[in-house]
Amino acid sequence: MKALVLSGGSGTRLRPFSHSMPKQLFPVAGRPVLVHALEAIREAGVTEVGIIVSGTGVAVRAAIGDGSQFGMSVTYLPQEEPRGLAHCVMIAREFLADDDFVMYLGDNIFDGGITETVETFRARRPAAQLVVTKVENPSQYGIAELDAEGRVTRLVEKPDDPRSDLAVTGVYCFTPDIHEAVLKISPSRRNEWEITDAIQWLVAQELPVQAQLFSGYWADTGTLADLLECNRVLLGGITPAVDGTVDGHSRISGPVIVEAGAIIERSTITGPSIIGAGSTIVNSHVGPFTSLGRECRLTEAGIEHSIVLDRASVDSVRSLQGSIIGKSGDVRRMRDGSASHRLLVGDHSRIEVPA
Ligand code: G1P
Repeated sequence: MKALVLSGGSGTRLRPFSHSMPKQLFPVAGRPVLVHALEAIREAGVTEVGIIVSGTGVAVRAAIGDGSQFGMSVTYLPQEEPRGLAHCVMIAREFLADDDFVMYLGDNIFDGGITETVETFRARRPAAQLVVTKVENPSQYGIAELDAEGRVTRLVEKPDDPRSDLAVTGVYCFTPDIHEAVLKISPSRRNEWEITDAIQWLVAQELPVQAQLFSGYWADTGTLADLLECNRVLLGGITPAVDGTVDGHSRISGPVIVEAGAIIERSTITGPSIIGAGSTIVNSHVGPFTSLGRECRLTEAGIEHSIVLDRASVDSVRSLQGSIIGKSGDVRRMRDGSASHRLLVGDHSRIEVPA
């Protein structure tokens, strides 16, 4: 069995961060979303992976390489422009050959992984197997209707009048039957070849299409709020480890990872939280639910429920929460006694100040 991971897409809802990195490389709980995806795939026993990349492919290649660091072998499959999930299957035809495969949308996170799903598929081998979950806003997803045995009877992409609240999530298992299906469909009203339509074609041919209900935490990390929530959930599962240096005046409580080379002085770290390699925290309070990247510097700072990317710094600001600070971002209190805010705000950024 192979895996096809979709890592194209522009991620406009994740601006400003998606201006400088593909959305799949955004870090949650210390690792890029895409790395969480690859780990879930490897845990399910699949190591031959094709990754669909778009214009942002250079950064993805730099981060993932040939896959050997994750115990996998990765082949990159460029997609010129986003033309839909079924189009990705068309592009991957040669790579996939006649093997079964799991298709994984590279911005999706399943807390607890996908091993059970892949094992169920291997045991039964339906033409397609979907993972569905109950949602409150069915018009924003592919929606599945099921019979009592979990067999899919109908699939509609983003229906105006949904007949079920079961959304198709971003992990699909297929036999090679899907290759015929993707050639039978036409582009949708958003002008994309929809995988939903290809699977509906399988249903119409009376080929077995199964759905599994997933009741754990699932996110398609489409917005910044999703990323913070995802960070919160995944931090809940970390294994504490202190490899950095913590001085005798600091206190660590709850599950905390302090990576190698990090220095904590006269500070409180409340878990679950991660302090990335080479970061320095002085006279500060971090956490809970906070992930710091590499080589960050916090002095007289207070931050909780937040994500701080590599080499960012916070100086003398103690009230940060629900915040995301980008790479090398610099948040500081002014020393000239001024009561005003002075902002240098990048494109599509958002600043929220107290009332
Ligand atoms: C895609 C699929 C949709 C599915 C969703 C899950 O939607 O087309 O069927 O429910 O992923 O994340 P998109 O994110 O392309 O709008």
